[in-house]
Amino acid sequence: MKVVITGGGGFLGSQLALKLLKRGTLTGPGGEAEAIDSITLFDAYFSPEVGSLAAKQGSAIDLTLLNGDMGDRDSVFAAIDRDDISVFHLASMVSGECEQRFDDAMRANLDGGRYLLEALRQREGRPRIVFASSVAAFGGAVMPDCVNDTTKCTPQTTYGMTKVIGELMINDYSRKGFLDGRSARLPTIIIRPGKPNAAASSWASGMFREPLNGQPCYLPVHRDQLHPVLGYHDVIDSFIALHEADPALLSDDRAFGLPSHRVSVAEGLRVMEQVAAEAGILPGLVVDDFNPVVQAIVDTWPTATDGTRALKLGVPKPKPLADIVRDYIADFVTT
Ligand SMILES: NC(=O)c1ccc[n+]([C@@H]2O[C@H](COP(=O)([O-])OP(=O)(O)OC[C@H]3O[C@@H](n4cnc5c(N)ncnc54)[C@H](O)[C@@H]3O)[C@@H](O)[C@H]2O)c1
Repeated sequence: MKVVITGGGGFLGSQLALKLLKRGTLTGPGGEAEAIDSITLFDAYFSPEVGSLAAKQGSAIDLTLLNGDMGDRDSVFAAIDRDDISVFHLASMVSGECEQRFDDAMRANLDGGRYLLEALRQREGRPRIVFASSVAAFGGAVMPDCVNDTTKCTPQTTYGMTKVIGELMINDYSRKGFLDGRSARLPTIIIRPGKPNAAASSWASGMFREPLNGQPCYLPVHRDQLHPVLGYHDVIDSFIALHEADPALLSDDRAFGLPSHRVSVAEGLRVMEQVAAEAGILPGLVVDDFNPVVQAIVDTWPTATDGTRALKLGVPKPKPLADIVRDYIADFVTT
């Protein structure tokens, strides 16, 4: 079977590709385990590191990097060219970008998502698709501190709005029998390697990443800010667990909030310093650099998630924070 990862050039998409190259099988549209013979990463941009993924793994699976724009219907349809196919839909403009570029956000996130579902609908059978949604689906004054799968979706950002509509489309295309979709509502995923990005949650990785790489970290939010976080290995395993889940167990709401740790900035920094000491790393400075625009966006997000429904489907229990930091050091820090 073929696997398409939209946003495959990004952080989670490239990590997912690595895991699938090792794993080698997934449940196909027929409901049986099938060998993966081809993985296509569909993205508007690829770094050189992503280009060398397959070579590093020495895998027999054909890995194709397909440069394309989700807002271009023909490019999306061209990627969905087999019936024995599964998709992980991770391509998305991030929250900060969506706030600044409304029209682009509508095109990439909303139109792009719909083109993808339409392309899958043209195939034989009911291809599986896992959609990366976000806790930004929630927000506003009515939102409780801890969100669960019955919390009303009242997004307060354009990004969150596009995620909620994506989830609703997944539910309806699945109900109609056009495909077999599942949405994962992600908390903030740490620790993203590389440079800070335009996500309003970028600091949640930066407060670990920059100090662990000996760089200063500029904190735009208060140190008592609470935030729901999950490690990148856990979220990749959650995508796969949701993909593999028996459709009979999904119910008529196929959007699943992932479990997370509710961590304050101060607690995160304490764990970062403890693991850095363990690894013999002298962390860079943490500088308070309050940014009211970032804080205002973060204030619209929940501080905790209840992942009970997702856990019942087989997504992993979140690893301890210290282990997430250890994973990041092992995978990305050159000491
Ligand atoms: N990382 C997190 O903390 C987090 C939290 C909640 C939800 N998510 C969701 O998970 C998914 C993956 O997140 P990530 O951290 O890997 O993000 P990322 O920014 O690293 O990857 C997203 C990829 O989408 C690509 N993309 C954007 N617009 C595109 C377009 N028009 N056409 C083609 N490609 C396009 C980007 O080039 C990028 O490589 C996203 O959908 C994101 O919204 C992530």
